[in-house]
Amino acid sequence: MSNDTDNKPSRTELVDFWKRKITYLRVSLTNRCNFRCKYCYGNPDLKIPKDDRLPNEYLIRLIEITAFLGINKIRFTGGEPLLRRDIIDLIANVSSIEGIKSIGITTNGYYLAKYLPDLATAGLSNVNISLDTLNKDTFKAITGVDGFEKVYLAIELAEQSGYFPLVKVNTVVMRSINDMEMPRFTEWALKRKIDLRFIEFMPTADSGWGKNLFVGEDEMREKIRLNLEADPESGDNIGPARRYRYKDYPGRISFISAVSHNFCDSCNRLRLTANGDLIGCLFGRGKLSLGNMMKKGLNNIDIMERIFEAVGDPEFKGIRGGFFAREHKPLMRSVGG
Ligand code: 5AD
Repeated sequence: MSNDTDNKPSRTELVDFWKRKITYLRVSLTNRCNFRCKYCYGNPDLKIPKDDRLPNEYLIRLIEITAFLGINKIRFTGGEPLLRRDIIDLIANVSSIEGIKSIGITTNGYYLAKYLPDLATAGLSNVNISLDTLNKDTFKAITGVDGFEKVYLAIELAEQSGYFPLVKVNTVVMRSINDMEMPRFTEWALKRKIDLRFIEFMPTADSGWGKNLFVGEDEMREKIRLNLEADPESGDNIGPARRYRYKDYPGRISFISAVSHNFCDSCNRLRLTANGDLIGCLFGRGKLSLGNMMKKGLNNIDIMERIFEAVGDPEFKGIRGGFFAREHKPLMRSVGG
């Protein structure tokens, strides 16, 4: 056998125009969702693009290519990623790709309890569950589904399973809808191994966003009225969330404040939409149709080169300055929350 290192291109790094190192890929597995959350499906008449999902075979190949380029963290999103029954197989395959250190999912939690042991066995490293309220009726009003108990149970199960050091819970804060729950929500999370992430409502397409609904981080912190301390164990804290702790409680409280404190400077991510387009910035227009390239039979080296080029292009990998610097609004259910 010939020395196979001779034939292998050397592993490299993805660095964008502003010298940001790209190590994180978010992959939307479908644009379908069994929920109709107001901040994602604000306008029932808006047309949902066709669900042109990439098969696992393509996804695995693309993740292998990006891992070669230095991606070490993957998150599967949607729509609702657990609507894909082949997700267990996908995770099992991705967890054996060299260089991939972490695999997460962002889910609405509805089907999570059912799949949790299989997901963990397949190699899932962490889970983010969306929960915007602790009130059953508000849950139905926000999501359109009478599913509070099911989601709450899934969170408890994930938290007690021991599979994950902390379970992340995503809460989009909206004025007069759930902002009054913040103190109770905080107390609930702090007592558990939960990292509760209060997310600023973003003006995405079809979100029904309005200034009247928006609550910024500074005001959120006033509402909580606790002396939170920055979490010293900021191990996986690289990213948009600023994480805090309180006394010796096990839980964490985080804020993701894309509107009031944009985190463009530390952006390390790319996104793959459900139909196979690579996107450099949530609020950017540039995309690279990797799905089509694969369908056309481009080889790995060609695809790698196209990704490399795109990431170096300042138009593709985002103009810094937050979304108000841009006019484009993403459709979150296709791009992935
Ligand atoms: N603003 C903020 N977060 C949003 N998400 C979806 N739409 C929005 C929006 N308009 C996020 C939520 C949800 C995840 C799937 O996507 O955090 O938990």
